[in-house]
Amino acid sequence: MQGSEDTLSLACSEAGGLLAMIQFLLEAALNRFILSTLFCWVAALVLLKWVGHVKMKQKMADARQQRDHGLDAMGKAVKQFKNEHPDQEIESITSLPLSQLTEKLKNGSLSPESVLYAYIEKALAVHKELNCLTDFLPDCETLLQEVKKQKDKGPLYCVPISLKDDVGYKGHDSHCGLVHFLGKPGPEDSVIVQVLKKQGAIPFVKTNLPQSMINFDCSNSIFGQTLNPRNHKKTPGGSSGGEAALIAAEGSVLGVGSDVLGSIRMPCSFCGICGFKPTGYRLSTSGFETPVQGMKTAVSMSGPMARDVDSLVLFMKALLCEDMFHLDPTVPPVPFNDEVYSSKRPLRIGYYDADGYFLPTPSARRAVQDTKALLEGAGHELIIFNPPRTEYAINELCIRGFFADGGSTLTEKFDVDIIDPHLQQQMTFWKLPTLAKRMMSFFMKPMYPRIANHMNAHCGVGSVKEFWKHNTAVKEYTKEYTKEWKKLNLDVLLCPMLGPAFNVGTPGKLFAGFSFTMLFNILNFPTGVMPVTTVTAEDEEELKQYKGYFDDPWDKEVIKGVEGGVGLPVGVQCVALPWQEELCLRLMKEVEKVTRRQK
Ligand SMILES: *[C@@H]1O[C@H](CO)[C@@H](O)[C@H](O)[C@H]1NC(C)=O
Repeated sequence: MQGSEDTLSLACSEAGGLLAMIQFLLEAALNRFILSTLFCWVAALVLLKWVGHVKMKQKMADARQQRDHGLDAMGKAVKQFKNEHPDQEIESITSLPLSQLTEKLKNGSLSPESVLYAYIEKALAVHKELNCLTDFLPDCETLLQEVKKQKDKGPLYCVPISLKDDVGYKGHDSHCGLVHFLGKPGPEDSVIVQVLKKQGAIPFVKTNLPQSMINFDCSNSIFGQTLNPRNHKKTPGGSSGGEAALIAAEGSVLGVGSDVLGSIRMPCSFCGICGFKPTGYRLSTSGFETPVQGMKTAVSMSGPMARDVDSLVLFMKALLCEDMFHLDPTVPPVPFNDEVYSSKRPLRIGYYDADGYFLPTPSARRAVQDTKALLEGAGHELIIFNPPRTEYAINELCIRGFFADGGSTLTEKFDVDIIDPHLQQQMTFWKLPTLAKRMMSFFMKPMYPRIANHMNAHCGVGSVKEFWKHNTAVKEYTKEYTKEWKKLNLDVLLCPMLGPAFNVGTPGKLFAGFSFTMLFNILNFPTGVMPVTTVTAEDEEELKQYKGYFDDPWDKEVIKGVEGGVGLPVGVQCVALPWQEELCLRLMKEVEKVTRRQK
């Protein structure tokens, strides 16, 4: 028995040893497995990242090549036309106001071809100077022939028109300055483009914008920086910056922009042209691209950009038609009310030159004061208006609402991209975890309360319940604002606009610069911008003493951004209550009359 027990224990210990051995081997294998799996994962990730990077670079190169092909095609088309028409003189066409251009096209004193090729040639020349084009729409040539054949000459008969990149056009990208959207050509024309074509317009180019559009500079990693035609050190503004630069330099007579925080109005102010953001939904935005799809707090709108107010009115009249109401039934079927626009009744105009949150530059304040005096001289009644709780509206309503998701919808569009250096600072902050944003805000509060509150607003709302509270707060604020307005029995409002143009690269450090304009996206009031004066040497001198309301880094950034601006255009904002586009445009026309008479 003894022996068998020995054998058994021996067997047991042997079995134990074997088990230990197996265990050891298994563990080793497992370790190796884990290690090698880990290694494979890391290698795969690196490889994927690298492939992604190569693909991204390729997409960017393809987009640039496509643009260059387009520019070549433009050059060739112009050359051919000039061979056949050697005495074509372009400046006499491109300097015509839209009202005269349409007249001459309709009565035949200008041929549609001469106008289209004059604009193609001019746009090409302007692009070489400013880098404002991203795409040529080559079917403009066949479209022109089709429009010529139509019996009814629409209000925009054969008028060449430019489109901001985000305006959907069949077969062409709307990239928003992001690689994310490259290589996804639009399946059909956006509703606005369809209606413009029906009214006789000839879309011929698309224009540049800042990466993601959430910046009032105008540069992206794909197509680079667009410059301001009035001064190349300055940005044309954004996000509809390519449009504004092209139109101000007479490379286009009418353009389509989009505005969710001020993207039509900012570049119009910086380049000295007119722009109009209607009440949300009055025009169709169907077919427009955006990196913040689904965000509804600040209401995004399409709108016209041009060199005078008549052009904005013509655009609105042409679009507010059965075709648009039919193609996009979410647009209220309300045609342009000419009676309101053409009325001669003096207006009751509220005005303010400072809102207690972001002090306008000396020239921008003077722009409001000068315009106010001129309007009074023309028989209108001007009443001082105190905008209620601006800081609350900007931070708690606009920014917290725009970044309700903490910015994740926006930042995920940058996953495969090279961040534009002019957006880097904003981007770094947007990408921080909410806790880090809150902590930065907390520590900054005692020193720079304005910036701290702004940072905190970027944390978003948190939960759906909080979001509903937020929506309610916007509603309450709109009520409060309207009540002030009604108390004074105002027709319209005149108020300051950010300007003059900032140096290239500075807007990305001053997101709050949008405060002048984004208020009216939250309120959803129709708002236009137009140039009324230019920066004088006295304004520039006064700027050196500018401390703003807070004398914080933002206020210092303002001086750095706008210095050296003598001679640059400065604008004002004209505002009306929702759905009063015609009244808003009427104020703009009155302002244009009194300020142009001055010049
Ligand atoms: C066409 O319209 C323009 C601009 O209004 C005018 O100057 C010109 O005389 C008109 N020409 C003809 C042929 O009617």
